[in-house]
Amino acid sequence: MPGIILIGTQWGDEGKGKVTDLLANDMDMVVRYQGGDNAGHTVIDGNQEFRFHLIPSGILYSHITCVIGNGVVVNPKVLIGELDGLEARGISTDKFLVSCNAHLVMPYHLVLDGARELKLGKSEIGTTRKGIGPAYSDKTSRIGLRVQDMLDMKIFRKKLEAALNEKNEILTKIYGFKPFDADKIVADYGGYAERLEKYIADTSLVINKALDEGKNVFFEGAQGTLLDIDHGTYPFVTSSSPVSGGACVGAGVGPRRIDKVVGVVKAYVTRVGSGPFPTELDNETGDMIREKGGEYGTTTGRPRRCGWFDAVILRYANMVSGLTEIAVTKLDVLSQFEKIKICVGYEYEGKMYDNFPSHQTVIHKCIPVYEEVDGWMESLNDITNYDDLPKAAQKYLARIEKLGGVPIKMISVGPKRRQIIFRD
Ligand code: IMP
Repeated sequence: MPGIILIGTQWGDEGKGKVTDLLANDMDMVVRYQGGDNAGHTVIDGNQEFRFHLIPSGILYSHITCVIGNGVVVNPKVLIGELDGLEARGISTDKFLVSCNAHLVMPYHLVLDGARELKLGKSEIGTTRKGIGPAYSDKTSRIGLRVQDMLDMKIFRKKLEAALNEKNEILTKIYGFKPFDADKIVADYGGYAERLEKYIADTSLVINKALDEGKNVFFEGAQGTLLDIDHGTYPFVTSSSPVSGGACVGAGVGPRRIDKVVGVVKAYVTRVGSGPFPTELDNETGDMIREKGGEYGTTTGRPRRCGWFDAVILRYANMVSGLTEIAVTKLDVLSQFEKIKICVGYEYEGKMYDNFPSHQTVIHKCIPVYEEVDGWMESLNDITNYDDLPKAAQKYLARIEKLGGVPIKMISVGPKRRQIIFRD
């Protein structure tokens, strides 16, 4: 099983970091293929807590090569901060690589991200303001700077000046901000280049060689299906492709190299930022989920919007990413409810929708159709065997499996590594 993709099936924050971490023993390489430091995952290792935004979580294992692929947008300052932080805690970064073709997040991307959000006012997307959208826009507009440009500061300066010609006009004339100075950016990025040079590689080649050698390569998605630029709830999405197809593009491997696609499914749904969310619970039940689940953003600290599990979304994620199995996370958070609701479809203007609606009006205005099941009202935190789960919890999982049409292979029942149930 050499090529495995792991994706989020909802709006991100499904607990992908924990799943990657659990499978790490069997992995030789972990590759990130999209997004940037808008992502964030927390891994608890013994008494130590690690928070990553760019570096794949496999970095905690000395046998794993961790790769940032070409599809990621890299803020080098943030990356260096993470590398320094790891080294300060005695964790080697020798097996870390970053693609020479990954695009750079530049200081003006951060400013533009915030400025655009402000201009949008009430219609804001609620971005993480990490410059992700502007960096991807420059990539597709072909005025972006790539990691490899930092290896030759002459080229870097030339490209930067071309970009600043346009950016400074926009910043000063449209948004009323100060212009950026090329010399300062060249000096800063020159320093970053010195620190990062040893990690820069042709990662597509490295990944394909690893696959040729039969190594286990894990493609770790960031964000989630409904934040996908093509398949998500546009425009309330991120600017990359978290779906499984994004892994091939963002890592430079062919689809035939992929053997498994694991979807991570939170036992309920959360979302940060604006946009439609049919099963949102803007009430006490939602607050109870948020508090017990610690549903606050790793990157921005924002409270996450919370709601009941939505099977329409899981079916959709299965369709667009071709899941082979799922991992259900945070089941323990639901232990506090006597009755639990599962969304099985949507209703809009008298019509039922079993599949994710393609029309934005429907997804914005639909009413979720629920099935109610019994809760279990007991702690799951110490259960490691599927058969030891309360019957009501087993029924809940069976329903998710049936409605989603994909088998559950892992169930997480707490934040610690040991709090996991594997199923054959
Ligand atoms: P951006 O990716 O910063 O441009 O933000 C676009 C949307 O994606 C916003 O709604 C963000 O809250 C959301 N988003 C970005 N990264 C994550 C993530 O890692 N988890 C959850 N939501 C995210």
